[in-house]
Amino acid sequence: MNTILVTGGAGYIGSHTVELLIEQGYDVVVFDNLFKGHRQAVHPKARLIIGDLLVPEQIQAVFDEYSIDGVFHFASHIMVPESMVKPWLYLRDNVVAASNLLEAAVSHNVKRFILSSTAALFDQPKQIPIPADEDVLPGSPYGESKAMIERQLHWMDEIYGLKSCCLRYFNAAGAHPNGHIGEDHDPETHLIPLVLKTALGQREKIVIYGDDYATPDGTCIRDYIHVMDLASAHVAAFEALADGKSRKYNLGTGTGYSIREVIDAARVVTGCPIPEAAGARRPGDLPILVADSQLIQSELGWKPKYPALEQIIETAWKWHRTHPNGFETVS
Ligand SMILES: NC(=O)c1ccc[n+]([C@@H]2O[C@H](COP(=O)([O-])OP(=O)(O)OC[C@H]3O[C@@H](n4cnc5c(N)ncnc54)[C@H](O)[C@@H]3O)[C@@H](O)[C@H]2O)c1
Repeated sequence: MNTILVTGGAGYIGSHTVELLIEQGYDVVVFDNLFKGHRQAVHPKARLIIGDLLVPEQIQAVFDEYSIDGVFHFASHIMVPESMVKPWLYLRDNVVAASNLLEAAVSHNVKRFILSSTAALFDQPKQIPIPADEDVLPGSPYGESKAMIERQLHWMDEIYGLKSCCLRYFNAAGAHPNGHIGEDHDPETHLIPLVLKTALGQREKIVIYGDDYATPDGTCIRDYIHVMDLASAHVAAFEALADGKSRKYNLGTGTGYSIREVIDAARVVTGCPIPEAAGARRPGDLPILVADSQLIQSELGWKPKYPALEQIIETAWKWHRTHPNGFETVS
């Protein structure tokens, strides 16, 4: 049985991936400082180690104790706007955390590594949908930190033969179909949970930041990918790396939805009115970000299981409706 180390496995995407790994018979070690993650989000069959990647001895100790076959690296600061005001959390901490993890991994002869990378690598896309070989030109310290980690992975392969897969996610959304885990960020900045919190009456209205973009309804278009589809892409990537070839994939459904379409779909799914208000454009928001995921589909045979916006919102709604205060109410 392969043992996978999941950093950030108490967070949103990490915890869903842990569920899938356990379901598929993997042995899982979660390493998380619980700075943003939730102990209750971690599957009971996974071993949770509370530690910080910024402390090299703490992550080295995990590799000393367990025989790790692969690493899924989710742990990170994750907010683009925060990175514009606190750049060192990103340009230093995200990068140093990854360096400490990589040093521990290669010194224990680990050969497979999956990185949670991002569409924020592409600030000036020449083509939409964005193909995997688009130029990497980050528009924020957040995106830059992921680009720097991708470069570290290049050298880890050259020098130590560590094979990696960089998965550049577009907009992660949805929740486990059982509704027992889901998205619980603080602060929450992602559209679908904010819309659903408005449906629950926890927020007065949803603000649309800019409705005069060059898109059919004037609001920004994004590619929402279900969190369980991200999880299955990780497992497929881990298995594929056995062929000894590092790779990079863009990960979305290839279909974009506007902010207005998301709000309208949420009104249908929830049956709630969901008040909205117009706000000013946010600096740095691109009008359209949609992934071309052909490469991962053709090379790994990966396909999204929940491509429809309604499915994404329905699963998220099941989580939010039954856990209005997130993991706070889960013992
Ligand atoms: N959510 C998205 O839409 C999205 C899009 C693109 C990429 N990503 C990437 O996916 C990954 C996971 O995102 P998420 O939404 O699940 O975030 P999250 O905040 O829910 O999870 C991150 C987890 O990492 C842990 N962590 C952070 N720093 C740590 C450290 N130094 N040591 C140990 N643990 C630490 C946190 O406690 C948290 O549990 C991140 O790398 C993010 O950049 C997310």
